[in-house]
Amino acid sequence: MTLVPAEAVKNTKSAAVQTCKQMNTMVYYTDAAASDREGIEKGAEILRKGGLVAFPTETVYGLGANGFDGEACKRIYEAKGRPSDNPLILHISQINELHLIVREIPPVAKKLMDAFWPGPLTMIFLKSNKVPKEVTGELDTVAVRFPSHPVAMALIREAGLPIAAPSANTSGRPSPTRAAHVAHDLSGKIDMILDGGSAEWGLESTIVDVSVTPPMILRPGAVTKEMLEQVVGNVGIDPAIWEKPTAELRPKAPGMKYTHYSPKAEVYLVQGSREAVTEKINALAVQDQRAGKKVGVLATEESKDGYNADVVLSAGSRSCLEEIGANLFRVLRQFDEVDIDVVYAETFPFEGEGMAIMNRLQKSAGYRMIKAE
Ligand code: TXA
Ligand code: MG
Repeated sequence: MTLVPAEAVKNTKSAAVQTCKQMNTMVYYTDAAASDREGIEKGAEILRKGGLVAFPTETVYGLGANGFDGEACKRIYEAKGRPSDNPLILHISQINELHLIVREIPPVAKKLMDAFWPGPLTMIFLKSNKVPKEVTGELDTVAVRFPSHPVAMALIREAGLPIAAPSANTSGRPSPTRAAHVAHDLSGKIDMILDGGSAEWGLESTIVDVSVTPPMILRPGAVTKEMLEQVVGNVGIDPAIWEKPTAELRPKAPGMKYTHYSPKAEVYLVQGSREAVTEKINALAVQDQRAGKKVGVLATEESKDGYNADVVLSAGSRSCLEEIGANLFRVLRQFDEVDIDVVYAETFPFEGEGMAIMNRLQKSAGYRMIKAE
């Protein structure tokens, strides 16, 4: 497998087109401005013909295919190595496309659409019979999102189709927040990457099931429980989000049951007061290093200077959880670049903006949590 070097992807603005070996994955830099339409038009043409195009959204990069073409959607599963029972989100660029793919739009969904679309919110509806089974698996529901990123919007509009798009990573790896991450995982396996710079939010969209009453959060994201409740009142949350999935406790979003967001290193979360966490991680690091392991710490601006591990990476300041969310997946990927064996990660509040961060961290750690006292 030939990879596109990260540098090559970062410097694509003037190069316009780059071609990799294997399946000729083209990389275009685009900001979707009227003067910069070549990538959008080419991408839309590839999508209409059944090909795969990775594109930036405000959450993470998506891997798009024609959402009405079951064969094209099958290629997504092949490229990602994705289990076939994990359904896809359909991305739209105008509200009237929603009527083609869902059977009904409950009043609660209308309110949430008005408040949060376009933006980082996915809703689960009863599906119409136009949606192929390759998108939804055996489910009678379909996930729909209206992204706000200008490149995503322009591409979907130009294609004139709902676009099925999971995150554009190899299954199990942290989701991609830059074109270089997509190239690392999928170069040679997909037709094109549209490089629109870093994703703003860095964590995937909030998923809310609006086919049940009260609506239920199936995956926390940038649109918090509090924000949703301000618009529609009481909102539930799938209890399986916080536990290691078992046969009895299965998450309602099928993808949430899989090991996910994992760098190659073993990740452990360490919880407690700041001083206790630093002390505990330093003690564990000494033990691991004696055993010949290379140790990394996922820290914050406030704590990063207190650790004696091999590599300490800050995800941002605790005073700005949005910044931590935006950097989290990039930092997890960075540990792989320097061949770290064990990562100890600090924890964050399980509420508000911290909920999405803790959900992704728990999954990347396989729910391993060490208490520091
Ligand atoms: O921010 C995002 O949502 C990104 C960008 C590209 O839009 N997409 C994304 O897709 O995160 P993916 O495939 O990585 O995650 C979609 C999640 C999976 O956990 C899947 O099981 C769930 O949505 N899902 C899809 N359809 C569903 C349905 N009908 N009912 C319940 N969960 C569903
Ligand atoms: Mg994903």
